[in-house]
Amino acid sequence: MQISLRSFLPQDAAQLSAWFPSAEALTQWGGSGLSFPLDAAQITEMHASTLGDAPARWMFAGVVDGDLAGHAQVALDWDNGVGRLSRVAINPRFRGHGLAQPFLQRIIERFFADVHFERLELNVYTFNTAAIRTYLKLGFIEEGVRRSSARVGDIRWDTALYGMLRSDLAAKRPFQNGSPT
Ligand SMILES: CC(C)(COP(=O)(O)OP(=O)(O)OC[C@H]1O[C@@H](n2cnc3c(N)ncnc32)[C@H](O)[C@@H]1OP(=O)(O)O)[C@@H](O)C(=O)NCCC(=O)NCCS
Repeated sequence: MQISLRSFLPQDAAQLSAWFPSAEALTQWGGSGLSFPLDAAQITEMHASTLGDAPARWMFAGVVDGDLAGHAQVALDWDNGVGRLSRVAINPRFRGHGLAQPFLQRIIERFFADVHFERLELNVYTFNTAAIRTYLKLGFIEEGVRRSSARVGDIRWDTALYGMLRSDLAAKRPFQNGSPT
């Protein structure tokens, strides 16, 4: 199964919303700042931040045989050359086939192809084994845990921070002129 990368389009919004059937699933994906259910207004607001010359975020779609199979965002801190990979999801119909790894690899290559950026980081709840195994295989390094950092109903979740530097990636695969080779 091959997954290709394109920009997320406003018309993808309805499909994306259907991937998160509960408040817990939505928080696991997008953090505690979102309201359940994920509605068009929240997605439109995210998409508005992708516009302009130095956008606050990139939004990506993963496509398998014409179907929306993945979604991920990168929040961009242009001043510090840092991106935060966030809101990673594989369409529930496509989970369990190892698609997140090649999908995110394409995003990592896209990110570091831009010479502005030196560091890509991410937050993940510590119980999320499928996500963490994927991030470790991609070469992210655990940098610490923010214990009891999220309130979800009556319980609290720990958040782990992972990071990847341009130099980490260069050690794996050489870059030339800011572009992946
Ligand atoms: C995280 C996610 C993107 C991974 O998608 P995927 O490509 O379908 O992942 P896979 O099911 O192929 O699993 C990836 C790895 O985790 C393992 N895994 C999957 N489910 C697991 C579970 N419940 N317990 C332990 N390991 C698990 C797989 O065996 C695989 O490991 P391996 O490559 O060493 O065999 C997907 O599960 C998802 O969309 N989750 C909901 C949203 C979310 O949590 N996003 C992450 C926010 S940080």
